[in-house]
Amino acid sequence: MTKFNIKKSIMNNTFAYKGKVLVAGSTGKTGLWVVKRLLHYGIPVRVLVRSIEKAAIFGDTVEVAVGHVQNSDNLAEAVKGCDAVISALGSSQFFGEASPAEVDRDGVSRLADAAAKAGVKHFGLVSSIGATKWFHPLNLFAGVLSMKLAGENHVKSLFSKKGCSYTIVRPGGLQDGEPLQNRLHSEQGDHLWNGFINRSDVAELLVLSLWVEKAKNKTFEVISETPEPQHSLEYCFDNLS
Ligand SMILES: NC(=O)c1ccc[n+]([C@@H]2O[C@H](COP(=O)([O-])OP(=O)(O)OC[C@H]3O[C@@H](n4cnc5c(N)ncnc54)[C@H](OP(=O)(O)O)[C@@H]3O)[C@@H](O)[C@H]2O)c1
Repeated sequence: MTKFNIKKSIMNNTFAYKGKVLVAGSTGKTGLWVVKRLLHYGIPVRVLVRSIEKAAIFGDTVEVAVGHVQNSDNLAEAVKGCDAVISALGSSQFFGEASPAEVDRDGVSRLADAAAKAGVKHFGLVSSIGATKWFHPLNLFAGVLSMKLAGENHVKSLFSKKGCSYTIVRPGGLQDGEPLQNRLHSEQGDHLWNGFINRSDVAELLVLSLWVEKAKNKTFEVISETPEPQHSLEYCFDNLS
């Protein structure tokens, strides 16, 4: 994994959000980008990591909370004092603590419960295109898409209440690469079957959703359309209902 080399508080955006954000799944490929983009905007970050050794990659740029999504006490401690949570959690095994049921459904739900209880105001979630398609071949992997949908629904039910908000991003296949290098296509209704997007752009959308009003309480699918440098990805939230 590449060394994390973004300096704390690089403030170059007048819209920057003022709260502190907990990033769950921070050691994953998308989570790392979420942390990088938050720091790019000068937003204070706390990361949730499963092992303190893995947090070394962040140096002293972030606060660190150690915990597993199976442990409600860990999560209560992790969310304390945070204004928003962004989850880039993802399952990687059929069974055990990194399975879809444990991470994408129960882990996300437990994290949302802890966040709502602690007064966190906004919850951003990485899900997937196809989340509503129970018959999708990806569900052969321990029902991963259905587990993601259950996690989505739990977040929605908790964070659509007065004074709170959520943003659920359903990306196509994830790729590596720098942010803002592609024109994106966003839509709703879970009609997309294929398409790819850089993890860094998914991260950027979740970070923008902290302060862009038209991103609040929205669930949408997103993929790259054409290679074309972008100044901002805010247009992805236009026309979302
Ligand atoms: N791959 C694709 O093409 C694709 C397409 C659409 C959507 N998605 C979804 O996008 C999301 C991000 O994908 P990614 O490739 O960036 O994921 P990733 O690199 O596999 O990262 C997953 C993260 O979840 C953490 N995690 C797993 N089990 C955990 C547990 N029990 N407690 C705490 N943390 C736990 C991992 O921690 P450790 O570092 O400790 O393992 C890691 O930080 C995932 O939900 C994925 O399913 C992926």
